[in-house]
Amino acid sequence: MCASCSVGVNVYVAYPWEVMEVFEIVGGARLVGEVRVTGAKNSVLKLMAAALLAEGATTLREVPDILDVTYMAELLRRLGCVVERDVDARTLTIDVPEMPSHQADYDLVRKLRASINVLGPLLARCGEAHVALPGGDNIGSRGLDMHIDGLERLGASVRSEHGFLIATRTGRLHGAHVWLDFPSVGATENLLMAAVLAEGTTVIDNAAREPEIVDICTMLQSMGAQLGGVGSSTLTIEGVDSLSPTDHTTVPDRLVAGTWAVGVVMAGGEITIRNANAAHLAIVLDKLTDAGAHVDVTSDGFRVVGESRPRSVDVVTLPYPGFPTDLQPHFIAMNSIASGTAMVTENLFEARFRFVNEMVRLGADVRTDGHHALIRGRESLSGAPVEAADIRAGAGLVLAGLVASGTTTIYEPHHIDRGYEGFLPDLVRLGADVTRKVVSDSS
Ligand code: UD1
Repeated sequence: MCASCSVGVNVYVAYPWEVMEVFEIVGGARLVGEVRVTGAKNSVLKLMAAALLAEGATTLREVPDILDVTYMAELLRRLGCVVERDVDARTLTIDVPEMPSHQADYDLVRKLRASINVLGPLLARCGEAHVALPGGDNIGSRGLDMHIDGLERLGASVRSEHGFLIATRTGRLHGAHVWLDFPSVGATENLLMAAVLAEGTTVIDNAAREPEIVDICTMLQSMGAQLGGVGSSTLTIEGVDSLSPTDHTTVPDRLVAGTWAVGVVMAGGEITIRNANAAHLAIVLDKLTDAGAHVDVTSDGFRVVGESRPRSVDVVTLPYPGFPTDLQPHFIAMNSIASGTAMVTENLFEARFRFVNEMVRLGADVRTDGHHALIRGRESLSGAPVEAADIRAGAGLVLAGLVASGTTTIYEPHHIDRGYEGFLPDLVRLGADVTRKVVSDSS
C-alpha cells in the first residue's frame, strides 16, 4: 500500500529507464604482459562443499574473488558453518559444526547451480539433504538423473517435493558399483563426496576426470579419504568412519588461463600466464599452435605469442581430456577472424550456440545446424552492442570485442564477473581499451 495514500490500493511506479553496467571495448589493441591466474571457480565451489564432510575448520587457498564464492559461502553459513574470507590473502576458512543443518533454499540455489554439490556431503554427514532444484540455465537444461541414480545405488532414497530434491538414508550409505551413462563432472563429485563416508567399497565407472575432479580427490585424501584411480575414469572409494578438516590449495583455473591464451592469439601480442598448468590445457594449446601461435611452457605457467592472423581450427567438445565446452565460445570468436573455414561441434550443452547470434551482430559469418557451427573466417569484425548470456559466452564476446573495429558494448557483464576475477583491470594492464560503465536503459 502507498504510505501516503489513505485508501488501500497498491501503487506501482513504472520507471521509464533503469541503470545498468556494461563493458565498453574499443578494439584494436595488442595484448602484451603478464597475468596471474587464481584457483578454479569450478573447483573451489566443490571444495567448499567438501569441507562439510568434516567437523572443524578447513582452510582453502587460492580462492578467487568472484561472486559465486560469495554465494557458496552464504549457503554454507545458512547450513551453520562459520565462514571467514580474506580476499587479499585469497583464503577462506570454513568452520563446520558437529551437525550442519541440511536445507539449501531456492533463493541461493537459483543463483548458483553448483550448490547442488552440497547434496552428497549433507546426505553423508547429516543423514538427509533438502536441496532446492536448480532448474535449467542459460546454457541449457542440465539433468540430475545420474546424481540421483548414483545416490540410490549407495542406499539413499531420493524424491522431489515442492521444488526440493530430498535425499535421505536410514543407517549408513553403503558401497556400490556405479556406472555413469556419461562422465558427468557434477555427478562424479556428488557421488564421490557421498561415498567417502559410506560403509564399504564404491566404484564409480565412467567417472569424469577433469583436473577439478583430481583436485577434490586430493583434498579428500588429505582429509583422510581412501581413494584409488584418481585421475582415471574408474574411481575406487573405501569408505571411512569420519574425515578431518584440512588445508588445501585450489587447482589453477584452466579456463581463465585458456581465455588469455585465445585472447592473445586473436589480438596479437605476447602474454605470460602465471600460476597455470599447461598440461591441463594440452588439447587447447595444441589447437592454438595449429592456429599459428607459439606456446612455451615456463616454470609456473606458459607464454603464448600471437604474431599474425590465426588459421581456422576445427574443435569438438568432449569431457576431459577432450576439448572443454567452456572454451568453445572463445574458439568460435577466434575462428570468426581466422583465415579459412572451421567446424565447431558442441557435444555437452545444446544451448551454448545461442551466443552465435551475438557474434553475428559483430559481423561474424557463423551458421549452426544442431550440434555443429560452421564458421567462415572474416578479415575483421565490427563493434556493436551485444549481450553476455553466460560466463563463457561473455568471455568469448570480450575477446571478439578486442579485435572488432570501433566500440563493442557488452550488456549483462555480471555473468562474466562470476567466473573471472579482475578481468578488466588485467585486460587494461595488457594494453586493451576496456571500461566498465553505467548506462541507462530506456527500453
Ligand atoms: C561442470 C562445470 C561446467 C562445465 C561442465 C562440463 C561447474 C560449476 N560447472 O558442469 O562449467 O561446462 O562441468 O565440463 O563445475 N547431465 C545429465 N544428467 C546428470 C548430469 C549431467 O544429463 O545427472 C548432462 C548435462 O545436462 C550436460 C552433461 O551431462 O549435458 C555434462 O554435465 P556435467 O558434466 O554434469 O556438467 P556440470 O557438472 O553441470
